Amino acid sequence: MKILITGGAGFIGSNFVRYMLENHDYEIVVLDKLTYAGRMENLQDVMDRITFIEGDICNREDVEKAGNCDVIFNFAAETHVDRSIIDAGIFVKTDVVGTYNLLEYARRYDVERYIQISTDEVYGSIEKGSFKEDDILDPSSPYSASKAGADLLTVAYYKTYGLPILITRSSNNFGPCQHPEKLIPILILNALQDKPLPIYGDGLNVRDWIYVLDNCEAIDLVFREGKIGEIYNIGAGNERTNIEVANIILKELHKPNSLIKLVKDRPGHDKRYSLNCEKIKKLGWKPKYQFENALRETIAWYKENEW
Ligand SMILES: NC(=O)c1ccc[n+]([C@@H]2O[C@H](COP(=O)([O-])OP(=O)(O)OC[C@H]3O[C@@H](n4cnc5c(N)ncnc54)[C@H](O)[C@@H]3O)[C@@H](O)[C@H]2O)c1
Repeated sequence: MKILITGGAGFIGSNFVRYMLENHDYEIVVLDKLTYAGRMENLQDVMDRITFIEGDICNREDVEKAGNCDVIFNFAAETHVDRSIIDAGIFVKTDVVGTYNLLEYARRYDVERYIQISTDEVYGSIEKGSFKEDDILDPSSPYSASKAGADLLTVAYYKTYGLPILITRSSNNFGPCQHPEKLIPILILNALQDKPLPIYGDGLNVRDWIYVLDNCEAIDLVFREGKIGEIYNIGAGNERTNIEVANIILKELHKPNSLIKLVKDRPGHDKRYSLNCEKIKKLGWKPKYQFENALRETIAWYKENEW
């Protein structure tokens, strides 16, 4: 079986490439534009076991270079909320138009599965309780709105053309190879250098953290066992305020809490994300990694991989 992984040089994509190589015997093609977020270093240990194409999911000719693939995992996206607030255009282009281009490619090649990698941010914020897969989408940022657009288009290709799609919506990931602009890497890297740890607003925004390898395992399970046309939430139940996460990192690195610096809040900042994950649990998935231990391993990874 030949599988195409777009965005495979990014954070989750590169961990997923490694996970699939370790657990299956598929031919893997990675297509990645190598934006500021994609790095060849993320794939350096597996380059001799994959085919790598530098290309843009928005460009039909680039996607055609992958040839006839049986399965597509679309991880490629612009992903940073703060950047989407400054300039939404590239988010609409990559996340919506790029997804459209891949869905068309999937139709042309009559793929067995098309898996769209989405996010809990499409549901928006929730004060109490947790979102289920059929709750309405209420995104707050240009990033999450673009991802929501891609989800709706993906479902439409199932309803209209019978394309065998699946969608995963995971909560916030952390682990090796995450770009230093994201919350946990910033906190770790700044703490290591005794620089202030910037936290938005009052620091009480809640995210449900999942270790990236738990997400990879869940995505693989959805691909193999999920029901065609369905959406699966993926969360590990590790709800923490941003301040709590910063405090754990500081404690682990033996640094003072006084390094925490509250900064002006992000516009439209969602207060809390929370997912109901009963559906994927029924497929037999549960998270394996304990939050504090996985965070400790992530800190060690950033210490060892200065690049
Ligand atoms: N990181 C998270 O916490 C999280 C949570 C839920 C869902 N997601 C989703 O998972 C996916 C991967 O997220 P990530 O954190 O690994 O992102 P990332 O920003 O680390 O990586 C994105 C990758 O996509 C590539 N890319 C960007 N535009 C492209 C284009 N036009 N054509 C081809 N490649 C392109 C980049 O070069 C990069 O390698 C995204 O779809 C994101 O929305 C991420």
